[in-house]
Amino acid sequence: MKKINVGLIGFGTIGAGVARVLLENRQIIQSRLGAELKLAKIADLDITSDRGITVPDGILTTDANEILGNPDIDIVIELVGGYEPARSFVLKALNSGQNVVTANKALLAKHGNEIFAAARAGGVDFYYEASVGGGIPIIKVIREALAGNRINSVCGILNGTCNYILTKMGDEGAEFSEVLQAAQELGYAEADPTFDIEGIDTAHKLAILTSLAFATPIAFDRIHVEGITGIKPVDFNFAREFGYKIKLLAIAKLEEGQIEVRVHPTMLPESHMLAKIDDVFNAVFVNSDALGPSLYYGQGAGMMATASAVVGDLVDIARNRLNESLRRVPDLSFQEEAITPATYRPMNEITTQYYLRFSAFDKTRVLSRIAGILGENEISIASVIQQGRSQSGGTVPIVMQTHKAREANLRKALAIIDELEIIAAPTAVIRMESDL
Ligand code: HSE
Repeated sequence: MKKINVGLIGFGTIGAGVARVLLENRQIIQSRLGAELKLAKIADLDITSDRGITVPDGILTTDANEILGNPDIDIVIELVGGYEPARSFVLKALNSGQNVVTANKALLAKHGNEIFAAARAGGVDFYYEASVGGGIPIIKVIREALAGNRINSVCGILNGTCNYILTKMGDEGAEFSEVLQAAQELGYAEADPTFDIEGIDTAHKLAILTSLAFATPIAFDRIHVEGITGIKPVDFNFAREFGYKIKLLAIAKLEEGQIEVRVHPTMLPESHMLAKIDDVFNAVFVNSDALGPSLYYGQGAGMMATASAVVGDLVDIARNRLNESLRRVPDLSFQEEAITPATYRPMNEITTQYYLRFSAFDKTRVLSRIAGILGENEISIASVIQQGRSQSGGTVPIVMQTHKAREANLRKALAIIDELEIIAAPTAVIRMESDL
């Protein structure tokens, strides 16, 4: 029986999951592949901690160079995470003619273009399914299944930690910090959870999806990013009154030849499919011309779900290798010459609906002054909620839902409103998306 040797660098939570799938599902993988997919080496600085899995004797090493450039290792799995030494490891493997699998979205968002060029130059496969949506095979879908489609938009809930936090805050009125800790304990959060809660991890993933969908080089810096730390429990109550849920949404869509790329807390109508995605689950909603709308749903984080995607990549590459068809699928689905920089729509030019929560002193004419300034800036109000009288500090929340308005106009109006003596704190803004 033919054998494909695999070397794993990074024996953390996901690495242990990959080892477990490769060892426990060895037979079924073999019966699909017609060859043995052998975990030949595992490198990690820590090779003594118990990962709850027994690996074959002699395969653990503290030296990644026993894997990198080793002619006996066909596929290198990079699960170190972060930028360095992950970038150097991946480049060394690709430059040595080894195929690579990674789950590292931060690495791709920052160095993806360089890495794809190295994979092309090396004539080897580079697969990264686990980098977006954990176990959901969204990259395979866009790269292969939708290859006959023109994609108009890709939107998604791409961070399990944030979705878990927002779900628990909304359903149980739980405190942010308490829920974040639970997500960390469950192994969902990044080593540095600010990447999760500030929307950066979601933006890393959106950068990858945008390139795949729109044939543009990876451009993380073009994404407008806002996290979930400013959401207050009261916002969930008002969202419910309007019939909306709050999600951290990644949006990439074509509008009049320009691409909008943004990550921010978003109110979605309760009836929208993405509004129903709760807990650690992720989902990606793709709108493409031939297929129409389609939704891809599953566990977006966690040991075994992510390992599932990594091992799927290993099998894909092994199949390509066995059939002498490496580079069968281009890294970003498109041929190199088709990948050109897109025109990005500035954030100020987007139009959407807005949820606005004003912290106003409980005085007469407050509502009319706010409404007046909004009107002068071409922002029309769809509905208003003002409940009860003064809370602490004599302020009362005034909540509005606007009709569609231009972001620049909203910013201009709020800059004036937030300076008024009747306003006690900066206005909370959440974009509302009803027609994604
Ligand atoms: N921290 C990430 C999340 C892990 O919570 O979704 C998967 O990328």
